[in-house]
Amino acid sequence: MNDKARLKQELERGLPVLVYDFEGREEEVDMVFYGGAVTPKSITTLRKEAGGLICFVTGEREGKLLGLPFFTEILREVGMGDLVKRPSYGDEPAFSLWVNHIETKTGISDNDRAKTIRGLHEVVKLLSTDDGEARRKFRESFMAPGHVPVLISRGVDRRRGHTELVMVLAEALGLERSMVIAEMLDEGASLSKEKAKKLAKNWGVSFLEGTEILGELA
Ligand code: 5RP
Ligand code: CA
Ligand code: ZN
Repeated sequence: MNDKARLKQELERGLPVLVYDFEGREEEVDMVFYGGAVTPKSITTLRKEAGGLICFVTGEREGKLLGLPFFTEILREVGMGDLVKRPSYGDEPAFSLWVNHIETKTGISDNDRAKTIRGLHEVVKLLSTDDGEARRKFRESFMAPGHVPVLISRGVDRRRGHTELVMVLAEALGLERSMVIAEMLDEGASLSKEKAKKLAKNWGVSFLEGTEILGELA
């Protein structure tokens, strides 16, 4: 990654970064915003310029402290484990619960999703100073099922999806483990890496590959 300070500043200013995973995996580019900088306008951009599923991502530690289950665990517990199947590249899904902040109306508008995401960011931030209070705030201020899926990282030693990549990125930049992602789509298919690179250049935002992000660990 060439300029961490610049990248951190861009994310904190509310600009997105585009992240491609790996050849032989999804081969998709996700548009990524920092959870602490998300506004209704970021959600509009994710809907109109990315088009995929808008998800909130946090880390394994945060997921455990908040008691968040993986959706696959819930399915197994209710006797529907046969529905848990893996995509061709083999990863178990990162999905946990889908939530809305209690101060939302339907939960889906740009204002509502930004409200939910900013609320989740505040809970994640609070975990580092008072995990009991963070847990209380989470249970009190959110409802499920809602319109923002929460994805939980399993760490790059166990899984190498966008979920894990954006958590490595957050840690490498010294940001809270709070990111928002959506796949970039094209007509009938995912947007190609080359088209995404051109868009990043036109928009003046950064484009990163999974291999560059993992290089941060070395
Ligand atoms: C949720 C997804 C996307 O692929 C997203 O990038 C997170 O998943 P992964 O960690 O598998 O890349 O499935 O819309
Ligand atoms: Ca996926
Ligand atoms: Zn992905």
